Amino acid sequence: YQVLLIKQSTADIIIDDSLGYGRDFDGIGGLSGGGATSKLLVNYPQEQRDQILDFLFKPNFGASLQILKVEIGGDAQSTDGTEASHMHNSWEENYARGYEWWLMVEAKKRNPNIKLYALPWGFPGWIGQGTRSPYANPGVLADYIVRWINGARVHYNLTIDYIGIWNEKQYDITYIKSLRSVLDQRGFQDVLIIAADEKWEISADIKKDTDLAKIVHAVGCHYPGTLSSNDAVSTGKKLWASEDYSTFNDEIGAGCWARILNQNYVNGLMTSTISWNLIASYYEDLPYYRDGLMTAVQPWSGNYVVQSPIWVTAHTTQFTSIGWKYLTHGNGVGKLPKGGSYVALVSPAGSDLTVVIETMTHDHSICIRPALPKYTVKAQNVTITLKNHFVNITHMNVWFSKLSFNGTPSTVFIKQNPLVFVSGQANLSLGLDEMITLTTLSEGVKGSYPPPPSSKPFPLPYKDNFEGYSLSEEPFMLAPQIGTLEVVKSQNTSHGQVVRQMVLHAPLKWCPITLSFPYAVIGDHNWRNLFIEIDFEIPDVNATDGVFVAARVNEGGCEAFIAHGIYFFAFPDARYIVANDLARTKVLSQGSLPYGKGWHTLSLLVQEQKAVGAYDKKGLFSIDIPTIPQSGFGAVGTDNFGLADFDNLYIATHE
Ligand code: GAL
Repeated sequence: YQVLLIKQSTADIIIDDSLGYGRDFDGIGGLSGGGATSKLLVNYPQEQRDQILDFLFKPNFGASLQILKVEIGGDAQSTDGTEASHMHNSWEENYARGYEWWLMVEAKKRNPNIKLYALPWGFPGWIGQGTRSPYANPGVLADYIVRWINGARVHYNLTIDYIGIWNEKQYDITYIKSLRSVLDQRGFQDVLIIAADEKWEISADIKKDTDLAKIVHAVGCHYPGTLSSNDAVSTGKKLWASEDYSTFNDEIGAGCWARILNQNYVNGLMTSTISWNLIASYYEDLPYYRDGLMTAVQPWSGNYVVQSPIWVTAHTTQFTSIGWKYLTHGNGVGKLPKGGSYVALVSPAGSDLTVVIETMTHDHSICIRPALPKYTVKAQNVTITLKNHFVNITHMNVWFSKLSFNGTPSTVFIKQNPLVFVSGQANLSLGLDEMITLTTLSEGVKGSYPPPPSSKPFPLPYKDNFEGYSLSEEPFMLAPQIGTLEVVKSQNTSHGQVVRQMVLHAPLKWCPITLSFPYAVIGDHNWRNLFIEIDFEIPDVNATDGVFVAARVNEGGCEAFIAHGIYFFAFPDARYIVANDLARTKVLSQGSLPYGKGWHTLSLLVQEQKAVGAYDKKGLFSIDIPTIPQSGFGAVGTDNFGLADFDNLYIATHE
């Protein structure tokens, strides 16, 4: 009985700064790219798009993110599509491509203090200088990367804060050093290097090489499972989970995010965690659907969903800033007696205090990777004791979430009555799968907008003549999987603006497989009976060997190469091929067509087990087609890398 009394009077959470502080907090972020994860966001109606951006970036509103990490497009497939390089070729530069510039500008508009972090996945082929390695000539790569950073400054007045090496691929120390010196030469001394966006391996090299140690600002590890290696800790460097999460954004995803945001520091001393991805804004059925903090996949309806991970993020971000300090383990950071964790952070002046507590249970907080060892969490009453500078605090504001797994909605980010401290002590009763933020700050807001328009299927018929775009823009609804598409002016004035496949040579790949046959998907992976038509012109110089339209296309992402569907290819040597797969290993029909220079039209109708094709509006084939795939996206593409122009895309249903 006495033992029990003693146990109960022991504080479970002690908040004490008398022993100093732990590490500096570096912020929570979201990652757009790696790849094309924000693709569909761009085309949202302005009203909903602004709302979504507010939920992500606006301080004291939603996720209120502190870091935005973006892909430096490399023309290569990088998970859910390709993102355009600012230098498709060594002889040109263009800073109007893609949507990451726009996104960074929108983030900064809402939060001028948000930090920007950039990282490449793949690279245009020419970077390899005749090899397949981006490090063939480190100076060439450094120049390419620093041009992008300079482009951000010159064209968008954006300061890039952090630059990475090569996403989840080998790093090269000579290159890292050369990157640093090119940054310094060109006035970017303040751009800090994060290395190496893989596991912790580079730590051993940092320990051996004092020059390298000097130029690496933080060791960035992906999916660390809340643990850092001994080597990483002994570098003395900042440790970041520079990519993490990638979990379906239901309540378990929210549980994963809540647990790792706290425990990446508690277990691994990581001071920044960045979510892949920022927002799931890519077509359903592309890889890792909904692995973002929220979902926006219907620009045509304006429908979007603010999922619980947004509010989990708010528990930390709305009550801290970059530069706040964690307290030390045992004095504000640790595990709760019956499971769960807590972290206490203090403002730089030491006056404000925020404590984030989570009690995520094992099965309700599993992340995509790595495996999560078993542990238990029980409901518990904890005593919180404030000491030293905090002893006179009389109450703290309370923000509460409880993730629900029984079909009822979760309670997320609700302000409760302040917690009263008597002589620096308070008791808290904690249930399962809960998050509680205690804070001396009073700014928190659960932002809201009227419900977005309801969800609708992709509207058909769909037409695009590409006249409405700025030059170099990527067409909104076509999602490139191999190669990239850009709106350009046609040499032939009757066509006005057209869309061009821009990539001339195979990029230095990020995916395990080498991909050829550039193509973009559009619409809905459930489309079955479909009419798709497009005008094309194959230019004289740097041209592709052929073009296609397709229906029922069933793959994208790194597996894009094995896509099946019904493909209608036309070749300038006056042939056509109908194939059941992109790689044309399963030819269904072939023959000749009257090809001549200039614009032509390809039309494909797929109806139950029949496909009918027309060339320049004249019937070319009518064939029986295999039952597989039963449905898939519409697609437009080319036979290999090289230029092709497209215009007047038209898609309709044929039920
Ligand atoms: C990471 C990669 C991301 C994305 C993610 C999916 O390894 O960097 O681009 O593919 O996995 O889980």
